[in-house]
Amino acid sequence: MSTPHNQANKGEIAKTVLMPGDPLRAKYLAETYLENVRVFNTTRNMLGYTGTYKGKEISIMGSGMGMPSIGIYSYELYHFYDVDNIIRIGSCGGFKEELHLRDIVIVQGACTDSNYAHQYELPGTFSAISDYGLLEKAVALAKEKKVPYHVGNVLTSDIFYHADDKADKWIKMGCLATEMESYALFCNAAYAGKKALTLLTVSDSLVMKEETTAEEREKTFTAMMEIALEIA
Ligand code: HPA
Repeated sequence: MSTPHNQANKGEIAKTVLMPGDPLRAKYLAETYLENVRVFNTTRNMLGYTGTYKGKEISIMGSGMGMPSIGIYSYELYHFYDVDNIIRIGSCGGFKEELHLRDIVIVQGACTDSNYAHQYELPGTFSAISDYGLLEKAVALAKEKKVPYHVGNVLTSDIFYHADDKADKWIKMGCLATEMESYALFCNAAYAGKKALTLLTVSDSLVMKEETTAEEREKTFTAMMEIALEIA
């Protein structure tokens, strides 16, 4: 069995999939952290790998950028490949001064400016949230690793280059940061009755001008990866 977007056969993908946006990052992570790595997808270069981490089978696959892209891949993983957990590992733009570059954001909920949830024809608005069990494990691991982390709401936007500053009202409502995928991922998880979580590192800030060293970047990115791998 394959789909128009994923050439994997059923059984080639683990129950838990980590999803960075960039497929080359999926390749790098699989080659760096997993043993016995097999590639299961190369369609559209949206590379996907399965291997083992400390004896557990885990897959890592790119999601692409934005809700339409992660919407397709995560839907297929949940519905056609029997995947139970998807952990997005990505980056975000910080909305608050407390969020320093490279801090980790453990996403509890996602707001959106998109129409993604209109497909469900709900008589109101849908609050897209991460799975509490995965979230709790991520928080415990972040504490254990003593990495700076924040837990809360983010804005999942369809727009990276906003025409003008439209973030203020989301900031007022307490959103910590902006990214472009989690709302769709959490909707797909809810619709499938499965689990999802997003871990982000702050890659830029809408309110602070800051710089970090390559070493600092590497350190928190590695911590985020290890948290995702250990939850899986
Ligand atoms: N906006 C949206 N997505 C992002 C950003 C941003 O500023 N930074 C990293 N991902």
